[in-house]
Amino acid sequence: MDPEGREQWNSQLGFILATVGSAVGLGNVWRFPTVVVQRGGGAFLIVYMAVVLAVGIPLMMAELAMGRRSRKGVVGAFRILGRADRWGALGLIGALAVFMILAYYAVIAGWTFLYTILGLSGQISGLTVEALADLFDSITGGVLPLYGQAVFLIAACSIVYFGVTSGIERWGKILTPGIVFLLLLLLGRVLLLEGGPAGAWWFLRPDFSRLSFPVVLDAVGQVFFSFSLGMGAVLTYGSYLNRQDSIPRSSLIIGFFDVAIAVLAGLVVTGALFAFGIEPEVGFGLVFVALPAVFNTLPAAAFWGSAFFLALSFAALTSVISFLEVLVAMLMEEMRWTRPAAVLTIGVATFIAGIPAALSGGLWAHVQLWGLDIMGFVDAVASNIALPLSGIATVVFVGWVWGIRRARSEVSPEDGTFPLAGAWSIIIRYIAPLALTYVMIRSFLL
Ligand code: PHE
Repeated sequence: MDPEGREQWNSQLGFILATVGSAVGLGNVWRFPTVVVQRGGGAFLIVYMAVVLAVGIPLMMAELAMGRRSRKGVVGAFRILGRADRWGALGLIGALAVFMILAYYAVIAGWTFLYTILGLSGQISGLTVEALADLFDSITGGVLPLYGQAVFLIAACSIVYFGVTSGIERWGKILTPGIVFLLLLLLGRVLLLEGGPAGAWWFLRPDFSRLSFPVVLDAVGQVFFSFSLGMGAVLTYGSYLNRQDSIPRSSLIIGFFDVAIAVLAGLVVTGALFAFGIEPEVGFGLVFVALPAVFNTLPAAAFWGSAFFLALSFAALTSVISFLEVLVAMLMEEMRWTRPAAVLTIGVATFIAGIPAALSGGLWAHVQLWGLDIMGFVDAVASNIALPLSGIATVVFVGWVWGIRRARSEVSPEDGTFPLAGAWSIIIRYIAPLALTYVMIRSFLL
């Protein structure tokens, strides 16, 4: 607890593991490997690292500083640091983006949970690619996703219910290392496959001819989503951060682990697929059909399949926890609700909001909005519009409203300086707003 009675992380390690848990999610496993392979492998990875250093880490520092200075979540931070209630409205964009993404993210998380159970009970092993594709269609086409979504939300809500240290931090310390352990185990197995090492090399093999300016922007979008930026998740976790902990150092460590775990997932996914001559493609087919088919060819198929889905469920769970905490903290601060009331309300509201997405593969598959099914539509609006918009709002706010000097003195409370502080200011004030605006405009043109 700090003097104002707000909870604080018990340890810097706990904070880092919880934030890495938020960052490492479904995005790392099903999107990152494909994005990398299609955009030049190792060549894209170099660009990606550069974007991490130039945009990802600086933005993470800005959000952590906003949270720690204001000791508030997403709406309160804008209100207090802007010294006027009206700025709170900017935070609402982030809250809205969080809610929209959470609603369908929890549905997909529910699928990973269902598949973990199917894997453990041996019901996936032995199935061919065609049978797995049918299985996926019949599961997502029915009402089972509603159960998966419900169980997943109950698990995540129970953890958030216990609060920052006894809930989020405690579970982050178990789940985040759990993801790394499972992925390392899977990587070990994949590298033993004939063709596995060559497949993993495919992921790293640099193809510079695929690089272009739009590819750099793709990297910005991917870093942004993967680092959980622009939705107040990092900001909210920063509001529980101790004054003694270094923001630049923590951001570097968190960024490093997010990239490292994404690369680990990339090696597992491409290694496994290429060993069987399959090109990775973004989306559900990769995770729920192609990879289980590969694991099915191994001895002890049920074990490897379950290990993979368990890793995915853990990754989704720590991310869902951080989504929930953004909204729970907001209700507790702005409406003076108790934590249990806030958790219950958000949990139920998320479940209800996710129903259309849960049914979009089946009962409501005929509902089309601008040529997309419900899940695709919500994803497009949230990721292409709401998310960059709230990201732009955050950097412009830090750079111009709260003020870059004040922000810097929170990033480094002792003397207001840190390595590359000048470059950081330029990134926050000019480069990040321009890059994010560009990403958003481009998503309209495509
Ligand atoms: N970073 C998570 C992922 O890669 C998603 C996420 C975004 C989680 C924003 C929380 C907040 O899947």
